[in-house]
Amino acid sequence: MAISKRVKNALEGASWVRKMFEEGEALKRIYGEDNVFDFSLGNPNLEPPASLKKALKTLADQPISGMHRYMPNSGYSETRKAIAQYIAEESDLPFEEKHIVMTVGAAGGLNVVFKALLDERDEVIVPSPYFMEFKFYIENCGGEIRLVETYEDFSLNLKAIEDAIGDRTKAILINSPNNPTGTIYDQESFRQLGDLLKRKTKELGKTLYLITDEAYRRIVFDQIKLPIPFLYYPHAIRVTSHSKDLSLPGERIGYIAVSPLCEEFDELISAIVFANRTLGFVNAPALMQRLVAPLQKNSINIREYEEKRNLFYNALKAYGYDIVKPQGAFYLFPKAPIEDEVAFVKELQSKRILTVPGRGFGKPGYFRIAYAVEKKTIEGSLPGFKEIAEKYGMGRR
Ligand SMILES: Cc1ncc(COP(=O)(O)O)c(C=O)c1O
Repeated sequence: MAISKRVKNALEGASWVRKMFEEGEALKRIYGEDNVFDFSLGNPNLEPPASLKKALKTLADQPISGMHRYMPNSGYSETRKAIAQYIAEESDLPFEEKHIVMTVGAAGGLNVVFKALLDERDEVIVPSPYFMEFKFYIENCGGEIRLVETYEDFSLNLKAIEDAIGDRTKAILINSPNNPTGTIYDQESFRQLGDLLKRKTKELGKTLYLITDEAYRRIVFDQIKLPIPFLYYPHAIRVTSHSKDLSLPGERIGYIAVSPLCEEFDELISAIVFANRTLGFVNAPALMQRLVAPLQKNSINIREYEEKRNLFYNALKAYGYDIVKPQGAFYLFPKAPIEDEVAFVKELQSKRILTVPGRGFGKPGYFRIAYAVEKKTIEGSLPGFKEIAEKYGMGRR
């Protein structure tokens, strides 16, 4: 076999999320769909807004001439303008169409940004626990991931970030709300991070970029106001998508927004558009660009996720699970009661409950629960979680 060594290594460390998802599918064939409680994959169960489906039908019935043709690599002007206007209102910064590039989801967007920025062996700092795909996206573009631990409550450890910044650092990637922890980094963390990056940019005599993965930016609970990273650092690039907020992950529609305050903006945006083209995306899906343009202020009903968070978190807490309360996204990341969380995940599996070991996110000793599922799946799993908690004496500790 002549596949690349890099891909061979990556395949050998197969994704825990996919592995658990596949085990779940096997269990479902044995016990039936309703008797397996599958929390392995972050796949939104809610349907997209009705207005989007209506607009889709209108487009199919009354097609616009040329609507399936090639377009500028950055995307349709009307969509980019709508997004720019939305971010300009939100941030009070002079965002315009030229600051936005439409992408094939947030995943496509991240690959594009890394391709545009990274030279061989440039480092991207990533706080851990983290979404494992980041490593592959960075390596796709010749870069290296540099992991930095967060505190026990998963908040940013600015000292550890400072210590990790060196000559090879090109960027820091911040994912908030976070997968797998559901943590939202607060304004003060962004302010301090911005100050640190400004200071280090001066010290090192080169620009460091703040890349934010905001794929879950609308999925925020407890009326928390999500900080806007653009306000704390000029060289900031937002990558996001409508996979979660409009429940469109299969449609692959997202965007990159580059701060108007970024120095050498023209060169950077040209590099981003070039990377979008030459990575073979060419442009983001045409139909979806048209459909999401008027929906910039819309989202699926976030309260449904919040109710599920409350139900699940309160129950697990009452059984004695050690969990940091998530403030957004749709994940819980409890500590396993034993060191070997893979063994613990197997115990849960004996109750037909599927979760993902924390080592799949760079954090052994924990496990991830993705709860973008039907309420009855959560309710059905609770007796199993309780039995396992009792077995390990969790409530008594
Ligand atoms: C943190 C994070 N970033 C990016 C993505 C990819 O999102 P998209 O479907 O928009 O490519 C995901 C998907 O689960 C994610 O969890």
